[in-house]
Amino acid sequence: MSTTSLRNDHKLIEKVLNALETTTSLLMDGKSIPEQILLPTIDFTHNFTHVCHHGKEEEVLFPALGQSGMPTKMGPIPRMIMEHKITNQLAGQIEVSAKAYLESGDSEELIASLQNYVIHVREHLWKENNRLFMMADSRLNNVSKEVDDRLGKIEDLKLKEIGKSRSDYEALAEELEKSVSKI
Ligand SMILES: [Fe+2]
Ligand SMILES: [Fe+2]
Repeated sequence: MSTTSLRNDHKLIEKVLNALETTTSLLMDGKSIPEQILLPTIDFTHNFTHVCHHGKEEEVLFPALGQSGMPTKMGPIPRMIMEHKITNQLAGQIEVSAKAYLESGDSEELIASLQNYVIHVREHLWKENNRLFMMADSRLNNVSKEVDDRLGKIEDLKLKEIGKSRSDYEALAEELEKSVSKI
């Protein structure tokens, strides 16, 4: 299926969203969150989610859908691209507020930016999983092998540029989940 690799990315992203939700509750309870949790969070949200995963969707899936006849100037494709931009802006706010938090210990902005990010990305993943990817799987049925190959290639390329591997990010997500559960 053309969307298998993207759905797997979503599972990994959701794991990190769960860890971010726990982080938010901990901060609200007055617990302190170390750099060892915040820095990998910034790395993941920027490099894995935005550069790698959004890159796979925008450079492979959406053009393939366009070729299948789906409109590219209106409808779900430009809407998803707009949501990727918002996701990246919200990730930028996490970065700024996390750095401010590490310096000052004031968690108010970090809590707000984590909450905004989690809400937005959860909604975005839901729309893709339950709407766009369903359409993609039926529309791209006859070219699914080609789309899968291209998704694999672009993932390798993006991760190589970042200097990490998929297993690094799988380990990062696992580690984040474990670290927050210990606080
Ligand atoms: Fe997306
Ligand atoms: Fe996605």
